[in-house]
Amino acid sequence: MERNHPPAGKQSMSKKPLFITATGTGIGKTATTTALCWQLRQKGKAVTALKPVISGYTTEDETSDTALILKACGISPTPEAIAAISPWRFKAPLAPNMAGALEGREIDFHALVEFCRDQQALAAGQTIVEGVGGVHVPLNSTHTTADWMQALNWPTLLVTGSYLGAISHTLSALEVLQHRNIPVRAIIISESENSTVSPHETMATLELFVRGAAPVIMIPHMGDSARPNMGDSARPNMGDSARPHMGDSARLWTRWPPLSWICDE
Ligand SMILES: Nc1ncnc2c1ncn2[C@@H]1O[C@H](COP(=O)(O)OP(=O)(O)O)[C@@H](O)[C@H]1O
Ligand SMILES: [Mg+2]
Repeated sequence: MERNHPPAGKQSMSKKPLFITATGTGIGKTATTTALCWQLRQKGKAVTALKPVISGYTTEDETSDTALILKACGISPTPEAIAAISPWRFKAPLAPNMAGALEGREIDFHALVEFCRDQQALAAGQTIVEGVGGVHVPLNSTHTTADWMQALNWPTLLVTGSYLGAISHTLSALEVLQHRNIPVRAIIISESENSTVSPHETMATLELFVRGAAPVIMIPHMGDSARPNMGDSARPNMGDSARPHMGDSARLWTRWPPLSWICDE
């Protein structure tokens, strides 16, 4: 994976926050977030990962994005831990504005931005925020995820796939980010399952059209989805001591190619 080496002349990213966005939902944001958390921790670095807004969330779901992120950080996904990193939780698997409307509540956009800033100010090391869906998901009746990213202005990873249509989605998303002066740290192609399009050709074509705006990194599909089999559900705290007994939920992030250089100095 030669392409996973740091680009020449990259700037110091130590302790800088990172926002993970994507071309859409189910693309690989959580997989990338958990892999990064795991890799940073393996290097002995402190990491604070947040999933401030989650929809389609139920308390019983041991494989929610929030639970997976906590586990990758070695934290047991207790109700308190979940509430601490995901204050805005909605039941319906819908855009947050619609999911919120069903529950008669709405995200306070400024509180959301403040939450991220405050958590980053408190964090000892790297802060990573997983967004929600793609770059223009309505959060409430006035703001989308693009407004959230713009307000934070944090370095951003744009995760995409190799599915048919991904190139257009990626370039459209990139244009939105660039238009709003949101720094794009890298574009990650997480190879889509059963894609009819070559991920290598997707990468080559994206590199042509991205024109050096950000490095393009390809992550192969790692086989079985890591999400459903929670063989470790009886032992939710997956700290380093749990490694020899890890269930499938942990295997994806341990197999992910090196990405932590994105956060390195
Ligand atoms: N490169 C990959 N290899 C294997 N499985 C992947 C890969 N990327 C994503 N997945 C799986 O695809 C599903 C959707 O990914 P996820 O990270 O949850 O997307 P998002 O957070 O963008 O909604 C999950 O089951 C995840 O484990
Ligand atoms: Mg996710």
